[in-house]
Parts: sequence; C-alpha cells; structure tokens
Amino acid sequence: MTNAYLLWKNKREKALKRGVHKVIGFEGPVMTDSGAFQLMQYGNVDVTNREVVEFQEAIGSDIATPLDLPGLGTRVKMVSNLKETIKRARECKELIHDSKSLWVGPIQGGAFPTLRRKSARAMRELDFDVYAVGSVVPLMNDYRFAEAFDALWAAKQELPLNKPVHFFGAGHPMMFAFAVALGADLFDSAAYSLFAQRGKYLTITGTKELSELEYLPCSCPVCRKHEPGELDERMLAEHNLWVSLEEMARIRQAIHENTLWELLEERARAHPQLSYAFKRFSRYRNYLESLDVFTKKRFFMLSGESRLRPEVYRHTQRMKELSGRGIGYRQLVDLPPFKQVPVELAGIYPFGQRVLPGEREQAPAVPDWRKADGIARYLYGVGLPRGLRFEKGKTGRLRRAYKGDELLVSFRASDGMIIPHGFARIIHKKTRPPAFRVQVDDEVQEFARKGKTVFAKFVRGCGPEVRAGMEVLVVNSKDELLASGTALLSAREMLDFDEGPAVKIRVRF
Ligand code: GUN
Ligand code: ZN
Repeated sequence: MTNAYLLWKNKREKALKRGVHKVIGFEGPVMTDSGAFQLMQYGNVDVTNREVVEFQEAIGSDIATPLDLPGLGTRVKMVSNLKETIKRARECKELIHDSKSLWVGPIQGGAFPTLRRKSARAMRELDFDVYAVGSVVPLMNDYRFAEAFDALWAAKQELPLNKPVHFFGAGHPMMFAFAVALGADLFDSAAYSLFAQRGKYLTITGTKELSELEYLPCSCPVCRKHEPGELDERMLAEHNLWVSLEEMARIRQAIHENTLWELLEERARAHPQLSYAFKRFSRYRNYLESLDVFTKKRFFMLSGESRLRPEVYRHTQRMKELSGRGIGYRQLVDLPPFKQVPVELAGIYPFGQRVLPGEREQAPAVPDWRKADGIARYLYGVGLPRGLRFEKGKTGRLRRAYKGDELLVSFRASDGMIIPHGFARIIHKKTRPPAFRVQVDDEVQEFARKGKTVFAKFVRGCGPEVRAGMEVLVVNSKDELLASGTALLSAREMLDFDEGPAVKIRVRF
C-alpha cells in the first residue's frame, strides 16, 4: 500500500511516465490511498478528489481510493462529512469507466453505527469493487478496539459478502484475528514500517520498545541473526512484517480448520482492552451466527468467552423456536457452555465435539429410534416414522436407518448429524418453502437432478436458516424436489455470491 497523494505531490511526472509499480519498485498488487489520511492528520490537503482519482487511474494503481473525509467527531459533523464522502465517491464512479483498477468505497460515519450503516449502504449502491472501513486509526492508537470493531460490524451488516473489505490503517497483528472474524479481508501494509519508525517492536501480544528489549522473543530471519542493539529501522520493519505475515498465515489456517474462535479466545488474553472488545462480541451474535459453519471437528472450551460462541447462541435460539412450535424434549442436560441440551443430541456437533477442562462426562444412553428422531426434530422440526431398522458400525455408532427397503437417513461419522436420503421427501412435504431449501434457476435443474454441484450463480432463493455444512433440499421454482446435499455456503452468502460452488449434491430425486 502506498500513498497516491504523496506521489502526486513529490513524484508526479515520474509516476505518470513510469507507473506506480516502477516508481516504488514493486511488481505485486499495489493499493494506493488518496491522501485522506493526511487530511485527517493535518486538516487539509491541496489536491481535489477529481485530481487524485484521475492520477491513480493514470499511474496504474491496482486498488485505488477516492478522497474521502475521515475523522471522528460530533454527529452533526459526521453527517456532513459523510454527505461529502458519498458525493466524492459518486464523482469517482462518474470519472472512471472501464478502469483497470479496482476502486475502493470508503465507509465513514465516526462512532455512530447508524451512520456507518448508511455509509455502507450508499457505497454498496455505488457498486465498488472493495469496501474500506475508515477512521479507525485514532481508535486503534488508543486501544479503543471495541469501538473500532463496532464500526466494522455496523458496516458489514450492509455490505455484500462477495466483495473484499479493507480495514483502513489497522496494521497491528494483535487485532487481526478479531477483525477477520468480523469480516475484514485486507489490512494496510504500512503499519509495520510506521511502527518501526517509532522504534516499536511488534509482537503478537502487544508492542514493545526496541530500546527496552534485552532479548528478541522471535525466530524470524532478522531476530535469529541479531541482538536487540543491532537492529536498525529497516531490520525492525522487516521483523514487524514477519510477525504480521505469520499471524495472517495462522488466521488462514484457523479458518481452514474452523478454529478461528479458539484463536480469538487466546488473543483476547493479550491486552485488557482486547478482552473487553471480545466480550462485546455478544452484540454481534446475530451476525456471527448467520455466517458461522454448521459443523466443526472440535469445540475447545478455552475460557469463559466460549459462552459467546455462535454455536451457543444458535442452540438457544433453536430451542426457543422449537418450543414455540410445540416441539419439546423430555430430558434436558447441561453440557457446558450449553444449557438445556436434549439428551438425544449429546453426540452431534457442537455438543459431542466439546473438549472441556476436567473429567470427561459420560453421555447418557438413549435408545436408537429416540436418538435419531430427536436429532431429526432438532435439525428440521420433522420427526422420523416409527419402525425403522438401524445399521450400526463396529463401535455401536448409528450408521443408517431404513424403512422397509428404503434408506431413510444415514449418520455423518464426523459429527453425528443425520443425512436425509428418503427422509428428504418427508422434510419437503412437511415444511413450507423456503425452509431448508436452496432454490435453483430452472435452467440448471437437470444438472442438479443428475447430481452435479449447484453453483452460487444459479441460486435463486434460500431458506434463511441455511448454513454452510447443513444438509439441505434443492428445489426448482415450483418447489419440486430435485436433490438434497450439503450446503457449502450460508444463506446470505448463497444470495450474494455469484461464483463458486453452493451445494454439493448427495442424493438425487
Ligand atoms: N487511512 C487510515 N484511515 C483512513 C480513512 O479513513 N480513509 C482513507 N482514505 N485512508 C485512511
Ligand atoms: Zn523477528
């Protein structure tokens, strides 16, 4: 990331002639900022929105930014700044056509969530390629993480899920995991060097003064080879960058293995203000739940904040919903951090995958039919018919259930969930659309019937309760059952994405 305003001021001719990549000597993707940050720091800049937009286009920036008005202040001030930012964003869209650059829609609104949401809606309407949440630097500098996360969360409520979101000026790796959990995809790459300029040595648990370090608690190429006293600014910047990249890789791996929440519980211990901000995640539970996958390999209970996990909220909501529809359970048990779990569910995710401090609890034994029926009602609100024949594995785990010769359900080995086979017809009959359904464009219905993966591009509708990892019904516009399979996206993602797979078909009808 580099600053188009400073290039415009100091190296204009050279940048116009040779392009931004040559001028800074970097052939990878280059994001340019507009000078808005200087505007926030020094009060004014001598460039107009139009000038800096056209300049970024001309120097071949890969990701470019209009001149927004950042800052934190009174509501009145924020309303007027926001108005101007939206005007400039619109002007930017009018100025550029067939641009090779990706353009950033900056989101402002200060400390006012309603203004943040309004700002995000306006940018979404203008259809930018990337969205960036601004004015969080002063908050981050003061360790006011909770307010910075509130701003990100408010914006994400309104932003499409298929476009990347940048967190302007946020570059300390100690908070990356939280911002990622809230839906940030990009961070400024300037922070590592700005910290180095001030003699700051970044670690994953906070910032240290290089001058106070007796030891280098890091094994990056710089720290391996040097003593604290030997580090110059360049080496310090390199170390800071290694630490940032390492945390990025750790976060990616955590997403890959569905353990991001557990990383948050770890990171929240680094600073009291992070721990405070993390507790505020309970405010975001609706949003977090709506995008959290339905099943994971494990559920580590690492701290009291495990109670804030989306799985806990999801279960509480599900029990309320079922009881509202007259679906009850006879025997409930406390399985921390969950309260009131029907005994039938003790084996399925998240209950059966929990790892707690202390002794392992013994799950109460439940007869086969009652267990399977209990899981079916929990998942779909629809029970199983009586008189089933169960097939079991060597260890006594349920594998399949038949009604006569028909395979009705199988049981997923990884998480104990039922997979509807013939049961999909019963769910289809007994629930009303769009519940548990992914509706595909009629043009591709034959592909779905043949068992081909459904792509997000062809999804026309989706039950609001659908989550990635859930077994769902695939239907056409007349609600005819085509197939059933595993959802690979959550409901909001199904509708926002226009690329990539959406449902992996298991059973054809
Ligand atoms: N860098 C840090 N914060 C901001 C912001 O709010 N807007 C822009 N354009 N750049 C920033
Ligand atoms: Zn290091």
